[in-house]
Amino acid sequence: MSDTETRAEPSGPEQPVRTQRDVVTLLEALPYIREFHGRTVVIKYGGAAMTDPALKQEFARDVALLKYVGINPVIVHGGGPEITSYMERLDLPVNFVDGLRVSDAETVTLAKMVLVGKVNKDIVLLLGRHGQPAVGLSGDDGLLFRCSRRSAPSGQDIGFVGRIDSVNIGVLTHVAEDYIPVVASVGADEEGNSYNINADDAAAAVAAALGAYKVMFLTDVAGWFRDRDDPGTLVAETSVSELRAALAEVSGGMRPKLAACLAAVEGGVPSAVIVDGRVPHSLLLELFTNEGQGTMIVPDAGADR
Ligand SMILES: Nc1ncnc2c1ncn2[C@@H]1O[C@H](COP(=O)(O)OP(=O)(O)OP(=O)(O)O)[C@@H](O)[C@H]1O
Ligand SMILES: [Mg+2]
Repeated sequence: MSDTETRAEPSGPEQPVRTQRDVVTLLEALPYIREFHGRTVVIKYGGAAMTDPALKQEFARDVALLKYVGINPVIVHGGGPEITSYMERLDLPVNFVDGLRVSDAETVTLAKMVLVGKVNKDIVLLLGRHGQPAVGLSGDDGLLFRCSRRSAPSGQDIGFVGRIDSVNIGVLTHVAEDYIPVVASVGADEEGNSYNINADDAAAAVAAALGAYKVMFLTDVAGWFRDRDDPGTLVAETSVSELRAALAEVSGGMRPKLAACLAAVEGGVPSAVIVDGRVPHSLLLELFTNEGQGTMIVPDAGADR
């Protein structure tokens, strides 16, 4: 106890009784805290954890805790549902190909407004209110992302959807010294054309460029199901070559997510994990316990790290 602290009143009937177990839980986390101390962990924030009010608060508390224990969290986010909701209000057509949003010029402008002006600031505010000041960035800030136009995996044109050709980590490492960086997944090419970037792609690019220790993708599903419709086929762990062979068969939003996991691990990140963001404190469970439940992608056995 510090000098300024006072001892709590003895537990009343309505207060939980503190037990040895609470301390054991803390001690169990210690080896993990030691392992992750000083490491960069990139978190792709999305799904229910970004929309459900209670999960949002818990996410912010978890990320703040990571920073407090000396881990360097970097948040990368999209904002699919919010973009869609504003598009519908403006009667703009909403289309996806292979899990990627078809983006004409108007869609990109709107996506940029919603992601940078609203979603990003909501996250920054939330983290700040949980005691860890955050700073929002887009791919344009500090020339963070240099993008070019990409097509869907099928080769179909999907408009102003960007691939990240390079990440200039200067601004991120500066910001991360004192703040939690929160990155919105938009960027521009050399000519100044803006692009909508799939947030999974952006998280992978950021993780690889920062030499992150881990990249985590929070989503609304327990992980990758080998058979999309059968949760019993959840893949707990897979390697780069196994995943590369299976990727062409994967559809929907899981496709870009797995492609991003592959890119991150091939880019030198030791592990990429898809985590069920609907489970309260899934970030902490994954990082600080043996109870990780999602899908983990690791390098091939014997591959150079
Ligand atoms: N084989 C599969 N296993 C698991 N989920 C799958 C599979 N194939 C397709 N999906 C779909 O992929 C979805 C996850 O991707 P989605 O893009 O919808 O979410 P997100 O990336 O977490 O959120 P956002 O794109 O809004 O940031 C799942 O909810 C599921 O519907
Ligand atoms: Mg997605």
